[in-house]
Amino acid sequence: MTRTFSFEIDSQGLGIVRIDKPGEKVNTLSISLLEEVEELLERIDREPNLKAVILISGKPDNFIAGADIHDFLTFKTAEHATEMSRRGQAFIDRLARAKVPIVAAIHGSCLGGGLELVLGCHYRIATDDPQTVLGLPEVQLGLIPGASGTQRLPRLIGLQAALDMILTGKNVYPRKARRLGLVDELVPREALLVAARRKALQLAAGWRPRRKKRGHPLVRALLENNPIGRAIIFKKARHLVLHRTKGHYPAPLKAIEAIRCGLTAGMKKGLEREARLFGELAVSPVTRQLINLFFAITATKKDTGVSDPHVRPRRVRKLGILGAGFMGSGIAMVAADKGIPVRLKDKDDESLSRGLKACYDYFAERRRKGILDGRQMEQRFNLISGTTDYAGFRTVDLVIEAVFEDLAVKQSVLAELERAAREDCIFASNTSSIPITDIARAATRPENVIGMHFFSPVPKMPLLEIIVTEQTDDSVTATCVEFGKRLGKTVIVVRDGVGFYTSRILAPYMNEAAHLLAEGAAIEDIDRAMVEWGFPVGPITLLDEVGIDVAAHVAKIMHRAFGQRLRPPDTMERIFADGRYGRKNKRGFYTYDGKKKRVDETVYDVLPHGRRRRRFPIEEIQERLALAMVNEAALCLQEGILRQPRDGDVGAILGLGFPPFRGGPFRYIDAVGVGTIVQRLEVWAARLNGRLAPAEMLVDMAKAGRTFY
Ligand code: NAI
Repeated sequence: MTRTFSFEIDSQGLGIVRIDKPGEKVNTLSISLLEEVEELLERIDREPNLKAVILISGKPDNFIAGADIHDFLTFKTAEHATEMSRRGQAFIDRLARAKVPIVAAIHGSCLGGGLELVLGCHYRIATDDPQTVLGLPEVQLGLIPGASGTQRLPRLIGLQAALDMILTGKNVYPRKARRLGLVDELVPREALLVAARRKALQLAAGWRPRRKKRGHPLVRALLENNPIGRAIIFKKARHLVLHRTKGHYPAPLKAIEAIRCGLTAGMKKGLEREARLFGELAVSPVTRQLINLFFAITATKKDTGVSDPHVRPRRVRKLGILGAGFMGSGIAMVAADKGIPVRLKDKDDESLSRGLKACYDYFAERRRKGILDGRQMEQRFNLISGTTDYAGFRTVDLVIEAVFEDLAVKQSVLAELERAAREDCIFASNTSSIPITDIARAATRPENVIGMHFFSPVPKMPLLEIIVTEQTDDSVTATCVEFGKRLGKTVIVVRDGVGFYTSRILAPYMNEAAHLLAEGAAIEDIDRAMVEWGFPVGPITLLDEVGIDVAAHVAKIMHRAFGQRLRPPDTMERIFADGRYGRKNKRGFYTYDGKKKRVDETVYDVLPHGRRRRRFPIEEIQERLALAMVNEAALCLQEGILRQPRDGDVGAILGLGFPPFRGGPFRYIDAVGVGTIVQRLEVWAARLNGRLAPAEMLVDMAKAGRTFY
């Protein structure tokens, strides 16, 4: 059997443990390895002439990426998970009490269980390479560190810094890790093993590192080192967590509990609490959904976007972009950041310069943040060249169009491009609402036409929705999927239709919010209800952000395509006619003058019921809006817009902010029960003029007792 941990002793009496999981790109810690590591520890303790041990990875750019997440799905009961946590803790404890000093030599990601492992070592050296990151991301999966991380980290780097790392799960880069005292020493990548050997021998000779107390001494004395001060820190942390999670994510609160227990009752009690809470969380519904989501995103990353395994993506050496506006320049900066040459075209010099300046500002900002140095910034910006005609478009392989949202304009640039570019050049439209099939009607080579729907702001939003028509060639789809991944996006492929998938399921949700407004609901009540349900912002705030003009326009298109089901109340038109466009002209549902966000009461003057708003039960608002969205998702699957439920879940969460802990529309329906969902939809359909009538697919599934997953 090939092993993950190899052990050899050199001529100086130093043991080198190399971690190299056979057949995998990254190292992960799994339950199946526990026996192997326990054997290894025994050997270390038994070896007669051993002076010290170095723990190093055999992978080029990865130390240990964390626990093997598949293991988490095997926990049948909380007790089972607690038992596993105890075994992990015991292993780290034995490591910490080994007969000889152990040095961790870290290059690449050192996360979760990987970091907990090195916390049990006696000295930590890391490379100063950008590939090296350290962190405890467990809360992002609904868990807490379960191999003594909640106990060892605060003891090493102090309470406040530990809370910051554990409660956010964020990555820490080498310099910061050194500053925090998380690692003892930074070295260049080439010097890692040499430096580790030197330190191991010193430690073997009795030398001990003197670890400075971190942070301001006064703050330490007043806060961290006395019970009252610590109580204040814990209270503040709880408050912050509740504000951020709205109480939907239990893990950060449990982490606080475990840390607090360890600091007040001692390490032994703390470890016991950690194991118990880890167990409870491991089998909780929220954790299951977050783990499902993790696997869904991982699977999406491996998907080529086409069913035929023989189809290969074409090389994209140079990207063309039409339209240097908000979206076009956003796509340009992301592509250049990944080292891809970009030819950016707009219709006149003024618009072009505005786009180029936006790109420049983006890289300058990244330089200010210390992510890029001056040379890297210049290199990236220089990859973007601008033009107001089609000069240079002969050599582009893929063109993304982001001109005005107008069918005639899009068709005319498509026809122009076909004359200016090579025959095999791909034309991808970034339209958010026009069917790609309609645009492709202007093409002489419609097989090269596809949709690439980016979300705004492009550098931040993780999703890319790719839209294929009946005519799109498979190799075009595969090329765009591959290219989207190169830009760092999670890509879903959907079939063409009005609103594709994301805009389509958003439409009935927004429409229902508009109806509630027309029925007399208060703006803040609608927004609050959906934020409490788990969306990052409420629908009315979203209207202000997207633009009421844009929303009213899209609402009309949706109504035309889907009829009565998506009939908007005429109030949106009235608001629009009142000169309200939302944030962009500082006139919308909210005010944009003062610091605090307030409802602009004058908007009620153009709405039915005027300023006398009616209280709606929060459950009614939540149910109507959420059901409208998940029912539409089911319709998309039924009509073949979606290839599979997984794409629908990933798309809604990453594109629209659907609450991750609910797992996405399809996971949500499964969790509530199709039967219950159908029944509730029928109740609302009867009251709302047929608006929320259940999708046929759901009715059939309820009858047959089937689920999506
Ligand atoms: P924008 O108005 O900021 O940019 C459009 C740009 O296209 C302008 O610079 C304009 O001068 C240029 N343009 C117009 N006609 C042209 C032509 N014939 N040749 C070359 N350039 C031309 O608009 P934005 O927001 O960037 O939107 C562009 C597209 O992206 C639209 O189709 C929109 O629906 C879509 N989209 C927008 C999102 C958003 O949040 N703003 C999100 C997703 C898609």
